[in-house]
Amino acid sequence: MAVSQALVVRKRLVEVDEPWKLDIYENTGGYAAAREVVTTSSPEDTLEEVKASGLRGRGGAGFPTGMKWSFVPKDIFPKYLVINHDEGEPGTFKDREMFELDPHQLLEGMIIAAFAVGASKAFIYCRGEFALGSRRMDQAIRSAYEKGYLGSGIFGSSFDFDVVLHRGAGAYICGEESALLDSLEGHRGQPRLKPPFPAVKGLYGQPTVVNNTETLSTLPHIFNHGIDWFRKWGSEKSPGVKVFSVSGHVNNPGNYEVPLGTKLSDVLELAGGMLDGNAPKAVIPGGISAPLLTITDIAMDFETLQAAGTMLGSGGIVFMDHTTCMVRNALIAAEFYEHESCGKCTPCREGTWWQVKVLERIEHGEGRQEDLDLLLDMCERMDGRCFCPLGDTAAWAVRSNLQLFREDFQAHIDEGRCTYETDHRTLVGARAIGPGDAGVTPQPSEGIGSDSEASS
Ligand SMILES: Cc1cc2nc3c(=O)[nH]c(=O)nc-3n(C[C@H](O)[C@H](O)[C@H](O)COP(=O)(O)O)c2cc1C
Ligand code: SF4
Repeated sequence: MAVSQALVVRKRLVEVDEPWKLDIYENTGGYAAAREVVTTSSPEDTLEEVKASGLRGRGGAGFPTGMKWSFVPKDIFPKYLVINHDEGEPGTFKDREMFELDPHQLLEGMIIAAFAVGASKAFIYCRGEFALGSRRMDQAIRSAYEKGYLGSGIFGSSFDFDVVLHRGAGAYICGEESALLDSLEGHRGQPRLKPPFPAVKGLYGQPTVVNNTETLSTLPHIFNHGIDWFRKWGSEKSPGVKVFSVSGHVNNPGNYEVPLGTKLSDVLELAGGMLDGNAPKAVIPGGISAPLLTITDIAMDFETLQAAGTMLGSGGIVFMDHTTCMVRNALIAAEFYEHESCGKCTPCREGTWWQVKVLERIEHGEGRQEDLDLLLDMCERMDGRCFCPLGDTAAWAVRSNLQLFREDFQAHIDEGRCTYETDHRTLVGARAIGPGDAGVTPQPSEGIGSDSEASS
């Protein structure tokens, strides 16, 4: 039987023309859930419903959303809601799509979240490069204010809710929630010491819930259709649907929304299979930070991937075929982490720099036999010893390439050159956007639309 998507968060943007416009959003059921929650429910009941849904964060860590909200102290004001729309994880482009095409869906989810935790102000931290998305969201916020869906006494209730759109400047570390908060406050974006966690002491020292774009975009659907409907997909620990960004050596790269627990091989089938009918050699299952897989017969949910020694992460899947040099792949990852390391702690700042140096000499045919164990030793000294997960994941990325494909590294040392002829330096994300794609992500050129185009 042919595999099909379970369209929830992506439904409107796949099936409806100009879904970013407020009238279109409302005509397709938009703002009904938020209106109902704010005018007929209580914050406590709203929070309990999210807890019971089992929704887990879609930003990378998979933390249960309702549980995170329950850590927010009830008696401290003001509280803030912050939306993490930084999406810097290589191989991941799902948030950008739903933000550009369906901004009201996120705003509606934000209203529900803010009502549940008692936040009367939210900040959307939008990746600086997302020009079209920020214009669309700016327009969506304006039109929601005009309709009384944002501002004082929204939907005629006593709940006040304001939203500020903030554009970042394109640093991967500013996706880490505490670095994001520092950046939002106007400081250099570097991770904070935890605890205290943001839910207790976050933006401007106040209780703050930080959630990912996809996490909150899922909320209106849970409240429209109910918990049983949401839980009919996925597993007990990973209920619901998830958007996966698929790229690399596949025929139809793009975003695909499927039930959690869908086999990786089925996701590959949705993406049109491997280029030229090749077999996958390696797969990044959840953004570049997730250790590699060499199988596709595996359920894509939080617990299965964790048990397999990797993670669902951001849901960015990159398929690589036999033409991929894994030394080069490791070097690309290492260069990324070296560039994005904020420099705050020594194991990451120095470790990522040395990873690049050693991988470069292996890649250029100047590697020494002892470099392989040296690399593993460096990874050991970084993993678990860094101030934030960026350093740990830099270690995982290099280690998993070396452990799973040591023969590629050995061949470079034995032959004094790269034994692969093709140049795949631009593999990650290079085929992320393609025409004629069922799960299509807008072409970059669409990001240069006029202001009137973004109007609702
Ligand atoms: C280096 C680094 C980068 C991150 N980048 C993002 C990001 O771009 N978007 C995101 O939602 N979460 C990102 N995260 C995870 C956030 O710290 C945080 O867990 C998430 O925003 C919480 O939202 P959620 O519970 O809805 O998933 C990143 C984490 C790290 C360590
Ligand atoms: S692990 Fe890297 S990114 Fe994280 S605080 Fe240390 S230097 Fe900064």
